[in-house]
Amino acid sequence: MFVKDNLLNRLAMCVSSWRMQPGLTWLLLLSFMPWGTDSMPDPRQREALMEQEVSREVGGRVVLNEKEKLLDGKLYQMKRQEMEAPDFPPAMHFFKAKALIDRSPVFRLLQKMPKGAALHVHDFSMVGVDWLVKNVTYRENCYVCFTDDGSVRFVFLSTQPKAAPTCSVWVLLKSLRKKHNTTELDNSFIRNLTLVTEDPDIEYPNQDVVWKRFEQAFLVAFGLVTYAPVFKDYLYESFRQFYMDNTMYVEIRALLPLTYELDGRLNDREWSMRACQDVVQRFTARYPDFIGARIIFTVHRGLNATQAVSVVKEAIMLQRNFPDIMAGFDFVGHEDNGNPLWYFKEALGVPEELGVHLPYFFHAGETNLEGTAVDQNMMDALLFNTSRIGHGFAMPRHPVVKELARKMDVAVEVCPISNQVLKLVSDLRNHPAAMLMAEGHPMVISSDDPALFGASGLSYDYYQAFMGLGGMTSSLATLKELVLNSLRYSSLSPTLKEKAIEALLVKWDKFVSESLL
Ligand SMILES: *[C@@H]1O[C@H](CO)[C@@H](O)[C@H](O)[C@H]1NC(C)=O
Ligand SMILES: *[C@@H]1O[C@H](CO)[C@@H](O)[C@H](O)[C@H]1NC(C)=O
Ligand SMILES: *[C@@H]1O[C@H](CO)[C@@H](O)[C@H](O)[C@H]1NC(C)=O
Ligand SMILES: *[C@@H]1O[C@H](CO)[C@@H](O)[C@H](O)[C@H]1NC(C)=O
Ligand SMILES: *[C@@H]1O[C@H](CO)[C@@H](O)[C@H](O)[C@H]1NC(C)=O
Ligand SMILES: [Zn+2]
Repeated sequence: MFVKDNLLNRLAMCVSSWRMQPGLTWLLLLSFMPWGTDSMPDPRQREALMEQEVSREVGGRVVLNEKEKLLDGKLYQMKRQEMEAPDFPPAMHFFKAKALIDRSPVFRLLQKMPKGAALHVHDFSMVGVDWLVKNVTYRENCYVCFTDDGSVRFVFLSTQPKAAPTCSVWVLLKSLRKKHNTTELDNSFIRNLTLVTEDPDIEYPNQDVVWKRFEQAFLVAFGLVTYAPVFKDYLYESFRQFYMDNTMYVEIRALLPLTYELDGRLNDREWSMRACQDVVQRFTARYPDFIGARIIFTVHRGLNATQAVSVVKEAIMLQRNFPDIMAGFDFVGHEDNGNPLWYFKEALGVPEELGVHLPYFFHAGETNLEGTAVDQNMMDALLFNTSRIGHGFAMPRHPVVKELARKMDVAVEVCPISNQVLKLVSDLRNHPAAMLMAEGHPMVISSDDPALFGASGLSYDYYQAFMGLGGMTSSLATLKELVLNSLRYSSLSPTLKEKAIEALLVKWDKFVSESLL
């Protein structure tokens, strides 16, 4: 009794400090009292409410078979153990969490899980940078120069290249390696190609700094990847890395820059599209259960309105000439500093005007700037009939946009690690998509620029979504819905989609059986 009285006193003190009438205080207190049998909620009602919540989340309507239920139980135990450990990876910066994730049993299971498609990845950041340094920079005729601001640039050329404005003279890498400690040199290249650093919070105090480094790293990779022979090998290697991570299909946001030959000659965009076609054919011939790749042609959102009109026309041409591999169009770059979609309205209306269909896959809502012109991008994306929304990080703050997206069945492409590294959120348990996940909003999980973040494939982002965004609520049913979504919301034709889903389900059943052994 003593404990209870004591508690009652404390409650009474606390309530009366709200300056309430003494009578009212007692009334309020009674309704708070958990031991009051009259006011005890009906446990069945409680149970029913809990079930309702579970049924609303992503995967809440998926019915698991007996084997899946067994695996779900096992997964639940594994997850609980990891959540009880002192360092919870989704709560930490990915650069610090990665080593922990690599050791996680849940992660290893997710690596084996067939993940369907990667629907949001960029052409310059799909292959782990080790391959760029260890394979590509060791090829003949590779030159390097050192920029005034401490970065590097690469180029392949049959003769000594002309000096670039803010860079040292070009040195043949092969001869440089003879004079330097190769390990140290290669490690410095690797650091230049990613954002990875020991102390990200100090190194990247705000979004502008981290985006600047992002664009810098992109320029380092640029000279390597746009060399025509490397471009093809890069694509092949990117399919291989995604395939090894149990992904069967990718949609690549591609800038399709002009590629160059050893004599400096430039190839046009059609060359790049044909190269993609060739590589897809070569890869799927070797790995028939990989169903291929499609291209979403992207341009930088720093373009002006006139330039945008001509690139949209170019996209329409590519779409006409390469209908099997060209999926649509999008803008890229730091959304906060670029032009909002509405600025491009003339350009975006061109296809409709010409009576052709050019699907859009807009990045939108990758922002914390609530209420600004940029924050309007998600609604404008929907008004322009976007097929999906890249990120949609700001979605939960826009109830009307959210409802509209759901009505139009437009999925958000959630890329948790990207959002964390690019400083929209630090603890992934607070990622806004956690709310969308709880509401069963249409979504897919993707990795945006895995190589830049020191990640690879899709599994790391699946881990963060499953552990951080979903918490103890997300289950094997959630994962099943997410991987099915990746094909459902892809740009594949209905026939191919159906075939792909069938193939995925076969892989899924195999995964479930093998994981129970
Ligand atoms: C680099 O990659 C290419 C194509 O993927 C391969 O043929 C070659 O053997 C690799 N070279 C090295 C040095 O790893
Ligand atoms: C090169 O540098 C690495 C790392 O600093 C060091 O371990 C290695 O011994 C050096 N190699 C040579 C040949 O000096
Ligand atoms: C980039 O490479 C240069 C040259 O090796 C090096 O001096 C610089 O520290 C590297 N940058 C980073 C961020 O490591
Ligand atoms: C857009 O950019 C192009 C190329 O830089 C330039 O020639 C043109 O004047 C610009 N148009 C507008 C409307 O700013
Ligand atoms: C979007 O789709 C709707 C319905 O199909 C159509 O009426 C509208 O014209 C489209 N808008 C644009 C900008 O393409
Ligand atoms: Zn992106």
